[in-house]
Amino acid sequence: MRVGVIGCGYWGSKHVRVLTELPEVSDVVVIDERPPVLATMMANHIGVLPRSSLRAALDDIDALIVATPPVTHATVAIEAMEAGKHVLVEKPMATSTTEALSMVASAKRSGVILAAGHTFVANDAVRKLTAIVRQGELGRLHHLDAARLSLGLYRDDVNVLWDLAAHDISITNLLVGTVPDLVSAWGDRHTAGFREDVASLRMVFTDRNITSTVRASWLSPEKVRRTTVVGSEQMAIYDDTMADAKLQVFDKGRRLRVRLGSTEPMAVNYRDGEVRVPYVAFREPLKVQAREFIECCTTGQRPIVDGWAGLELVAVLEAADRSLREHGAPVPVEIPTLGPTVPRRAAA
Ligand SMILES: NC(=O)c1ccc[n+]([C@@H]2O[C@H](COP(=O)([O-])OP(=O)(O)OC[C@H]3O[C@@H](n4cnc5c(N)ncnc54)[C@H](O)[C@@H]3O)[C@@H](O)[C@H]2O)c1
Repeated sequence: MRVGVIGCGYWGSKHVRVLTELPEVSDVVVIDERPPVLATMMANHIGVLPRSSLRAALDDIDALIVATPPVTHATVAIEAMEAGKHVLVEKPMATSTTEALSMVASAKRSGVILAAGHTFVANDAVRKLTAIVRQGELGRLHHLDAARLSLGLYRDDVNVLWDLAAHDISITNLLVGTVPDLVSAWGDRHTAGFREDVASLRMVFTDRNITSTVRASWLSPEKVRRTTVVGSEQMAIYDDTMADAKLQVFDKGRRLRVRLGSTEPMAVNYRDGEVRVPYVAFREPLKVQAREFIECCTTGQRPIVDGWAGLELVAVLEAADRSLREHGAPVPVEIPTLGPTVPRRAAA
């Protein structure tokens, strides 16, 4: 498999490093419009092939990873797919559902794989937590709470929800097994020339009676990367900043004590049991994601995070943007389809 990476900046350079380490990749083509970036790639990785544009690289690749800024994703990915190349697009897959739908349509028309780079879906701690939730160990899910805070990196094309909360929405969608129906968002701009750099999001999964909250910030002194999952029986915390014990399951909870012969709750009883630290062996999520993408390209298998999942994340973010403009008013998440004959991706 000959794989190109377009956009070899902060994140794309990591994709390049990962691809050079995979035996299933014969050629790594580095594509960037900035010559110094290409020079750095060639200096750091022996044997990579430099190209200054996608057009110049098309004859040399079978698949492409798109790690350019989000506003360019749709144009770049569609050009590659129309040329018959499989594509993995970094999160967020697009900056509107209209763009995302065009990308899904292009993949279908061209008969190629379209995958979205929701990195945390390839994270083994998140996969372990998902298995724990699906096996019912936490009981019925009540609430999820996520925080993703740090200082920088500011992006000038999207706000902090599209940049950071995108990860937490993808984790939440995976854990709940579907997409929220309703979102409310609040955000503030503290830095001239940029969009919201501090924001909060509330998501409601109506049918499952689950709510979830996300806080995202580019303007915080502390690096926080944490997801709390509250179930009826147990609770769990996934903390990506921890070296060990990234995942902890707490045998904690509360029950209402009910007066005999009455349905009136009298008191809340608390249960405080053991804390379990499930073992999670470390595999680099970006490498897991790249391997699974290449496997799909060679077998035609559907990616875990396909174009529809990418579109669903974009739809949540688009609804969040509308809510931001309406000062937190609840906005329904609308998932467009290609038409009545093409069903929406079934919820996981
Ligand atoms: N999955 C993750 O955890 C994660 C983390 C960081 C960034 N990202 C995503 O990766 C993408 C890139 O982010 P970044 O921080 O690396 O940005 P960046 O600005 O550091 O790099 C972007 C690069 O793309 C190049 N570029 C832009 N348009 C181009 C074009 N049309 N043709 C060729 N080259 C072009 C630029 O020259 C630059 O080198 C974004 O979508 C971002 O959301 C994902």
